[in-house]
Amino acid sequence: MSTEPNFKPKEGAPKKRKTIPEIMARKGGEPLVCLTAYTTPIARLLDGTCDLLLVGDSIGMVLYGMETTLGVTLDMMIQHGAAVVRGAEEAVIIIDMPFGTYEETPEFAFKNAAEIMARTGAQGVKLEGGLEMATTIEFMVKRGIPVMAHIGLTPQSVHTIGGFKTQGLEDDSWASIMGDAHAVSNAGAFAIVLEAVGEPLAAKITQKVPTVTIGIGASAQCDGQILVTDDMLGMGDWSPKFVKRYADLKGEITKAAEKYASDVKVRAFPEPKNTFKVKK
Ligand code: KIV
Repeated sequence: MSTEPNFKPKEGAPKKRKTIPEIMARKGGEPLVCLTAYTTPIARLLDGTCDLLLVGDSIGMVLYGMETTLGVTLDMMIQHGAAVVRGAEEAVIIIDMPFGTYEETPEFAFKNAAEIMARTGAQGVKLEGGLEMATTIEFMVKRGIPVMAHIGLTPQSVHTIGGFKTQGLEDDSWASIMGDAHAVSNAGAFAIVLEAVGEPLAAKITQKVPTVTIGIGASAQCDGQILVTDDMLGMGDWSPKFVKRYADLKGEITKAAEKYASDVKVRAFPEPKNTFKVKK
């Protein structure tokens, strides 16, 4: 395990970073504002607005053009995690554990999570799974690793589920998702991401489970919300029903690139002010 500190202390008066206990204390209070971040510039822009930034393994699909999150590696998460920690001074930073780095044994999960935390400076990790991951979560939490659990639609199980499908729409599936929520909460998870879960079930979990719930496609009943930043900024052609697009960056970027191309072609760019002259 490499332990090189590739995160640098910031210059100037340090801002106070939020803490995991502060996130936990928001149960039933002001909703938590969370977004994904994968790079330093985006982390800088979102810090101050968000309580928590997640370096999600959605990075595989969003930044690397993969069809699923299954090809994301520990090294990718560590490099991008360290970049996000360098960009954000106030938000809690949590890093996703990629597929295959935590499921096998609690010891293996601890080793990989410890490497993520040591090499990035992040405050915790997220992993997917409910009841079946409870022993692992407890093992990690008891050894100093804050764990955010992720239940409902778990994208790393896309092939078992048979697609990215909404969960908990029929009453008969409620008991198992409710059981997952109780299991990860009892195991010591500091927060639970509920992904693509119908509103009544999300509301019930949020009422019954003492851990903060962070919804993505799980209604306004959760203790907080998270979205993939690129989705809410309108970077792609398509986004799931639960995403609200707060900007049209795809349109803006396309317009800017087309304007640049036409300026280059008619030699309207560079202008004299963008050009170096020879000194007399
Ligand atoms: O990978 C990710 O970005 C996530 C969020 C969608 C919760 O897990």
